[in-house]
Amino acid sequence: MPKSILVALSLGAASLLVLLERRRRCAEGRLEKLLEEHVGEEGRVVITGADRGIGKELGRLLLRHPRVSLLLGCLDPSAAAAGDDNEKRCRISPLELLDFDSVQRFAEDVHDFLSDGEPGLRMLVNNAGFKERVEGDRTKYGTGKTWQINFLGPFLLTEFLARRRERDGVEIPCSVINVASGHESESNLDKQLLDSLEVGCESTGHDYPDSKRALLLWTSVRSQSLALKGHLYTHAVSPGKVDTRFGCDHIPEVLWCLSKPFRSLLYRSQAEGALSIAAAGLRKHATSKFGQYFRGEELVEDLVVWRMPEKRLSVQLVRWAATATALEPRSGGRPLDIGGRSLSVGDLLVGRGEEDRWSTSERRWSTEISNLSRQVSEEILILPARISAVRRLLIRCRERLLQWLPF
Ligand SMILES: NC(=O)c1ccc[n+]([C@@H]2O[C@H](COP(=O)([O-])OP(=O)(O)OC[C@H]3O[C@@H](n4cnc5c(N)ncnc54)[C@H](OP(=O)(O)O)[C@@H]3O)[C@@H](O)[C@H]2O)c1
Repeated sequence: MPKSILVALSLGAASLLVLLERRRRCAEGRLEKLLEEHVGEEGRVVITGADRGIGKELGRLLLRHPRVSLLLGCLDPSAAAAGDDNEKRCRISPLELLDFDSVQRFAEDVHDFLSDGEPGLRMLVNNAGFKERVEGDRTKYGTGKTWQINFLGPFLLTEFLARRRERDGVEIPCSVINVASGHESESNLDKQLLDSLEVGCESTGHDYPDSKRALLLWTSVRSQSLALKGHLYTHAVSPGKVDTRFGCDHIPEVLWCLSKPFRSLLYRSQAEGALSIAAAGLRKHATSKFGQYFRGEELVEDLVVWRMPEKRLSVQLVRWAATATALEPRSGGRPLDIGGRSLSVGDLLVGRGEEDRWSTSERRWSTEISNLSRQVSEEILILPARISAVRRLLIRCRERLLQWLPF
């Protein structure tokens, strides 16, 4: 191979490494800063699916902060070991989302963990996720695996936890971050599909986007009650396309390694994915507002308002989930409610006028425009700082150049 091509390739590889390192450091630095601002006296964070991928990276980064303790819910506890130094601050509890009894046991652990300790950050990250390549397998409860891991499991965990907190009068606010996906926009979830889920239909071939959309719809109708009664402030985040093995377990190891440079360029690093998830719970309003949906760190939707036109579907979904997970018998027989009203048939008949009043296109536009104008004004505010930074850089370059010149 000609020498010039080798030099070009080495230079390309070196710049790629520098770029990746820079991106990773930026994400880690930003997370460190957010933690410093929001941890308080003691931070306690629960992460599900922390034995690999984004969940594992999030755990690793959070443990760097000396006042943060973790409870990790893992299928394979040995894979999630935090390292000897951090063992005291990191507990690992078995969690199999395909088994509702395991979810309930884990929820009890989560309740004890979050209720204890000094005041400060409390956060539950419903991160574990699954995407079946060939859909069709049924769980022992008669639902698809993807539906159970991505929606029914987190649903039971959060709703059960809220009831335990309410019963024990726990008032320390806690944010719940549901890890969603941009693929939810490809979902076909509608009344017909829900009807067939209720009678245990075969897979639709869209289980992943449908189950992720279900997370958002559940958040849209239940986040208010969860906040008022269980002091759980539920939000959702889509981390973007992150470089993990998610849905790619079938790709041979060799190919996976060879594709690393392309993946690194096209996808976000695991640290960036972890940052976007954590940032949703490390905000001033994480435990005063509820039902917000973020893409990366950007707020993209107020689910309670924007998903109002889908309220009827959402209520039906929540009813199905409560029945499928046996939530009521598990938590003392009390039925679910929405905004103080029980989930009766009457709730399913929300008038069209009421739905649309909250989510007219004008309202959506005005939110979009106010978000945009806020971003523009923020950019304008930091413009002078950027200009002076460039000026300082130019001055430094000039000084260096003058040092090097022989005259
Ligand atoms: N990567 C992306 O580009 C991307 C994009 C959008 C959204 N997301 C979402 O981000 C989340 C994390 O994804 P990731 O990329 O980190 O994927 P990943 O590397 O495959 O991690 C998924 C985690 O979920 C756990 N899990 C799977 N089935 C489980 C079960 N039955 N019970 C308990 N835990 C189970 C896995 O445990 P095992 O390792 O033991 O199986 C693993 O720890 C998922 O919810 C995913 O939908 C990812």
